[in-house]
Amino acid sequence: MDFLAYRDRFPILRDCTYLINHSLAAMPAKAEDRLLEYARMWRERGIRAWGEGWWDMPITVGDQVGRIIGARPGSTVMHQNVTVAEEIVLSCFRRPGARNRVVYEDANFPSVRYLYQAQPDLEVVAVEDDAAVVEAIDERTLLVPISHVLFKNGEIQDVEPIVRRAHEVGAHVVLDCYQSAGVVPFDVTTLEVDFAVGGSVKWLCGGPGAGWLYVRPDLAERLEPTFVGWQGHARPFAFEPELEYASGASRFLTGTPNVPALYAATAGYDVIEEVGVQRIRERSLALTQLLIDLLDEAGFEIGSPRDPARRGGTVLVQTPDDAAVHRELGERGIICDFRPGAGIRLGPHFYNSEDELRQTVEQLTEIVESGAYERHAGSAARF
Ligand SMILES: Cc1ncc(COP(=O)(O)O)c(C=O)c1O
Repeated sequence: MDFLAYRDRFPILRDCTYLINHSLAAMPAKAEDRLLEYARMWRERGIRAWGEGWWDMPITVGDQVGRIIGARPGSTVMHQNVTVAEEIVLSCFRRPGARNRVVYEDANFPSVRYLYQAQPDLEVVAVEDDAAVVEAIDERTLLVPISHVLFKNGEIQDVEPIVRRAHEVGAHVVLDCYQSAGVVPFDVTTLEVDFAVGGSVKWLCGGPGAGWLYVRPDLAERLEPTFVGWQGHARPFAFEPELEYASGASRFLTGTPNVPALYAATAGYDVIEEVGVQRIRERSLALTQLLIDLLDEAGFEIGSPRDPARRGGTVLVQTPDDAAVHRELGERGIICDFRPGAGIRLGPHFYNSEDELRQTVEQLTEIVESGAYERHAGSAARF
């Protein structure tokens, strides 16, 4: 497959070396067309636009995400972000009683950690890694909200044993797939996770404001989220005073959807579907291996897994001063980021070229060897 032929579809690739796809992937040019289409609908169709697609977008767009993550139609709905999606999950389990434990790994994404920590009725047990999560799950465990791929070092987690153990004791797994969807193939149905959440800014190339929530279809019929709104009602336009839940994943909706974000996001999903996550994964493994080899040759320490079975889309590299080196790379047109204590994150997507990786490692080597980064000493972390 000619992956480089896709570069024209992502305008920012003309201007810089874009290696930050684990944070905000390059915008597909089509996203702009979709946003114009949204504006045209609003301008020309006005209120009629709700009936011509807008109202159903959390479901129809959710179904497109569903195709990418192996979910059955009608089991994935769109929200603003992962935090909101996880709050909706949590809202199904108010008054937990004796089963009030939440088990997750230390490297869980902070926003997710904050949400569970803030719940007065829950006891959070944070453990070292995925194996320790399996050990920590017991009859008191209510929820296991874990990351599929860790944001800090790009490590793929071993999900199956966690799901098996959780189900053995009657706990539910919430899989955060933000760092895997669109770059690491997986299938929520085969994995048998109870919930899956993610967003679109990263490998799905869909931009901000388009988070998603998958609920296992048999569970969706039984659960009653307490964070609910009129989109979650069986007959929203009857404006009935009493709540009657819609069936399936629709009951996990709240109020008016984030229509422009959903327009933009489909441009990203289209290209991911077109290329296919399996092919993206093959490309990603080849590019991340090349990066690791180049960094090894240049004498850098790697902070992410070398084993392809554990390697997500991001390579971490340690430098004498990550913040300062990152800033100097940015000034040289190489866009990446770093996370405190973890290193500089380099996340090539299928559209990045081998030459870009070679140039990046050359620049990195020159910046460190010449001390060019030192003029940025004291730089702070942002984005
Ligand atoms: C694993 C993971 N979960 C969640 C998020 C973000 O959560 P939210 O969509 O609530 O901003 C990120 C990154 O931004 C992430 O890497």
